Amino acid sequence: MLEAPDPGPPQRQGGQEFALTGADFAAIARLAYQHFGLHLTESKRSLVYSRLARRLRKKGLPDFAAYVVLLNGPEWEAEKLDFLTALTTNTTHFYREAHHFTRLEKEVLPPLIEAARKKRGRVRLWSAASSSGQEPYSMAMSVLRVCPEAASLDIKILATDIDPVIVNKAREAVYLPEEYQSMPADMRAECTQPVPGNYKLSPKVTGLVTFGILNLMDELPFRGPFDAIFCRNVAIYFDKPTQVKVFTKLTHVLRPGGELFIGHSERLSGEVSNYYENSGITSYKRRADAARPKPRSLNV
Ligand SMILES: C[S@@+](CC[C@H](N)C(=O)[O-])C[C@H]1O[C@@H](n2cnc3c(N)ncnc32)[C@H](O)[C@@H]1O
Repeated sequence: MLEAPDPGPPQRQGGQEFALTGADFAAIARLAYQHFGLHLTESKRSLVYSRLARRLRKKGLPDFAAYVVLLNGPEWEAEKLDFLTALTTNTTHFYREAHHFTRLEKEVLPPLIEAARKKRGRVRLWSAASSSGQEPYSMAMSVLRVCPEAASLDIKILATDIDPVIVNKAREAVYLPEEYQSMPADMRAECTQPVPGNYKLSPKVTGLVTFGILNLMDELPFRGPFDAIFCRNVAIYFDKPTQVKVFTKLTHVLRPGGELFIGHSERLSGEVSNYYENSGITSYKRRADAARPKPRSLNV
């Protein structure tokens, strides 16, 4: 829950550039929670100040009270993504938390690929907060390691994020040479091609991934079922009740026996943890014997 608003004094004291009252902070926290599920407690006050001060400068506003007026007015639609981007981070890299990709390659994918080869079955993976694309592309490279002929089978990776700007960057699949450092050398050699000043991922990687824009607070526009879902380093922004609701939503579209990967500082808690057994470091297998979660908890 958001903490009670602190009525004053403005933070301009002590040399701050813009006044930020308790009421301003509470209004900002309310909007962030209502639209994006972000949980901003008083402990985040100086972070919120420094992140949003850039928006005030850009807009030429005198103080946070004026920014709150803007957010609550007709400019909200145009401002909301910059507001969200300022409050969250897109930090990611190839093969982040590499043990998840090892598990994907060694445990999760082999039986799925075998079935896809023999019975023409389908494999469906989802990266639910895909940022600039390194996560779903790492999933695609793991698929290619296990199944070099993936393009000829029914194997698809869905990648979604709330932020359309970062999704467009992901679609381009162009990264600086140093961004490839965390990628295993064999994959770097096999899966990238030079473009002026940078490197682009090759079509055999990008061809496996389809991008879309999706706010995890919204009703999911698909039913799955997915064989594995990566939802990593985004639930940290949500409070516990919102985390439970989001993970419950994911559970509805993950097939029994399917695998859920979450971020290193995230945990499954509450009712939703009954649907899973631990299968590795921050990875969980959806139990086949558990009944489906109640539909009433589907939407945030
Ligand atoms: C720190 S990045 C994590 C990227 C990747 N999953 C990883 O672990 O490397 C967090 C991403 O979550 C996205 N995000 C924040 N709130 C979201 C929401 N309500 N719905 C969907 N994505 C959200 C942000 O745009 C950002 O790209």
